[in-house]
Amino acid sequence: MVRTMSGIQPTGKLHSGNYLGAIVNWVELQKNYEAFFCVVDLHALTQRPDPAVLKQAVREVAIGILASGVDPDKSTLFVQSQVPQHAELGWIMTCLTPLGDLNRMTQFKDKSAQQPENINAGLFTYPILQTADIALYRADRVPVGEDQDQHLELARETLRRFNFVYGETFPDPQTVRSHAPRVIGLDGQAKMSKSKGNEIGLFETADETMQKLRGAKTDPARLRKSDPGTPEVCNIFSWHGFFSPAEQRAEIAAGCRSAQLGCVDCKKMLATNLEAVKGPIRERAAALRDNPARLDEILDAGARKARVAAEATMQLVRERIGLRPSK
Ligand code: AMP
Ligand code: TRP
Repeated sequence: MVRTMSGIQPTGKLHSGNYLGAIVNWVELQKNYEAFFCVVDLHALTQRPDPAVLKQAVREVAIGILASGVDPDKSTLFVQSQVPQHAELGWIMTCLTPLGDLNRMTQFKDKSAQQPENINAGLFTYPILQTADIALYRADRVPVGEDQDQHLELARETLRRFNFVYGETFPDPQTVRSHAPRVIGLDGQAKMSKSKGNEIGLFETADETMQKLRGAKTDPARLRKSDPGTPEVCNIFSWHGFFSPAEQRAEIAAGCRSAQLGCVDCKKMLATNLEAVKGPIRERAAALRDNPARLDEILDAGARKARVAAEATMQLVRERIGLRPSK
C-alpha cells in the first residue's frame, strides 16, 4: 500500500490554515493510503517552549487532528519524540545534506528574525529532521501547505542523494496540495500563522469568530457600504471560496459589485458557514478533552505502530550504509 506522512508542530493552537492547507487532505488520504501523522514536538524544541506549555500543546494539537476527522483506526497518529528513530535518521540525513542547501531556506531567515535571541542550530537543521520524518515511513505522498515547498524540495534532493550513494531505498515523496494551499490571515496580507496573531482558531466559538471577522480586512478600496466592491481582491471573499457553496458565492459576488451587500453581512454569512464546519469539530474536541485516557490510548498505540515501521526502515538503512546491525 502506498504511504502518506505528514506532521504539525505543537506550537500554539490549530487554525483554519492548518485545517484547510493540510488536515483536510490527511482526512482524505487516510481512506486510500497507509497513513502516518505526527505531532512534531522535536521540531517545536527549536522555539524552546516552556515544558508545561509544550505538554499541553501536544495534546491539544492531537485533539484537533482527531476532531477534524483523522480516524485512529485508519491512520497512525503519534508524537514524534516517542519514536526515537526520527532523531537517529535525522543525524544520518544531516551527513547527507550540503550546507549550501540549508543556507537557501527562507524559513530559517524568517524564524531567525522572529526569535533573534535564540538562533539555535536546530532552527537551521530543522528541514533535515523533516526529511528524516518522511524517509522513516518511506512516504510517497506528503500533504502540506505551500509554505513547505522548499522543505519538501530539500527532502527530495536528500533522498535522491541517499538512493544514489547507497542504492534505491526511498520513494520520491510527492507533495499533496489542498484547494487552499496558502490561507491568508485576518490582516489580509500575511499567511495565516500561529506566530502572527492573524488566525481564526479551529476551536473558536461562533461569537469569537464573528468578533475577529469584524476587524478583518476587506477590499481596501471599499470605504463605505454604498461603494461597489471587487470580490477578487477581498480576503473575506477568498475565504467564502473555502467555506461557502458556489451559488451563495455567486450571490455574494454580485451583491458586492453592485453594493447591495455590505461587508458586515458578507462577514456574517461567512461566520455562519465557518461555524457549520467548526461547530462539530469543537464538539468532538470537547468530548476528547473529557476523556484523557482515550487520547493517551490512541497516542500510545500510534507510537507503538510507528516504531515498528520506523525500525524496519532503520534496519534497512543501517545495512545500506554499513552500520553494525542491532540485535
Ligand atoms: P505548522 O503549523 O507550521 O506546523 O503547519 C502545519 C501544516 O499546516 C503544514 O502542512 C503547513 O503547510 C500548513 N499550513 C500552515 N499555515 C497555513 C496557511 N496559512 N495556509 C495553508 N496551509 C498552512
Ligand atoms: N515543517 C512542517 C511545518 O512546519 C511540519 C513537519 C515536520 C512536517 N515534519 C514533517 C510536514 C514531515 C510534513 C512531513 O508545517
